Amino acid sequence: MMLGQLDVRPGDHVLEIGAGTGYNAALVAELVGPQGSVTTIDIDPEITAHARRALDASGYSRTHVITGDGALGAPGHAPFTRIIVTVGPWDLPPAWHDQLTPGGRLVVPLHWRGQARSVAFVHEDGILRASDSQLCGFIPMINEGQDGERTVRWTPTSPFTGTATSPSIRPRYRESSRSPEPPCGQAQRLFPTNPPTASGSV
Ligand SMILES: C[S@@+](CC[C@H](N)C(=O)[O-])C[C@H]1O[C@@H](n2cnc3c(N)ncnc32)[C@H](O)[C@@H]1O
Repeated sequence: MMLGQLDVRPGDHVLEIGAGTGYNAALVAELVGPQGSVTTIDIDPEITAHARRALDASGYSRTHVITGDGALGAPGHAPFTRIIVTVGPWDLPPAWHDQLTPGGRLVVPLHWRGQARSVAFVHEDGILRASDSQLCGFIPMINEGQDGERTVRWTPTSPFTGTATSPSIRPRYRESSRSPEPPCGQAQRLFPTNPPTASGSV
């Protein structure tokens, strides 16, 4: 589904964020053909080592496999005509916009209102314009920087107000695996339409 949204053509130069097994990179390599290129990046060195071995063993040694934070893109291999993000980011990092050619496509899973959607953007007139979205699900992106989901301790006092304390920024993957607190989606369900802007805002 995401590859359909990406609309890969022979000769495209593709960046994949989240190398994982290398399987999707191999699929993309088939689509871009010998004139194109595939660069895949993962933050975990064990994963990139495994992906490198798997791609070499299956005949995709032309695929570039990089270890690093995909939020920074891959400036050494840019620009790209296509970028596909196979992990859930917090936001759209500027590097993805900067490393995408005019007319290029970015496909990325975004979360809002408790749902994840794979959104296809086209780089037009200097901006990313959304052209399609499909329901999907992805693990959240790992990063060590300041970006991330803001979590608060939420004490509801009525269906429409509450008290937020101890604001912090923590990567969601740690939050979801260790914390007994309810996920933000549960607090947000207290609000029928728009979150209030007074003390009850999350
Ligand atoms: C769903 S898997 C990707 C699947 C992969 N495309 C495949 O074909 O197997 C998500 C991957 O994103 C990686 N990841 C998480 N945070 C990242 C980050 N900041 N930069 C790059 N990769 C990241 C994880 O290590 C994981 O391997």
